[in-house]
Amino acid sequence: SMLEAAHENDIELEGKISERGCIQPTVIIYWTSRACEGSLACSTCHVIVMDVEYYNKLEDPTDEENDMLDLAFGLTETSRLGCQVI
Ligand code: FES
Repeated sequence: SMLEAAHENDIELEGKISERGCIQPTVIIYWTSRACEGSLACSTCHVIVMDVEYYNKLEDPTDEENDMLDLAFGLTETSRLGCQVI
């Protein structure tokens, strides 16, 4: 999953990665904790996909993911749960 890839590549795991900088990020990792270990019982792995083309290539979120996303801080139209994006 996107969340596992972030962990495996030592991407900063606490808090929001800044949107500032000269390169528009494809994904903003908001909060890459994984309190529930990917069992869709939290929203701490919330990510925002900044590239709409990339977002549209992803499989649609399940109803269960959407229910949990509704609880995420700073929800956007291109929010996903990092543990569910493969
Ligand atoms: Fe809990 Fe993703 S780690 S929903």
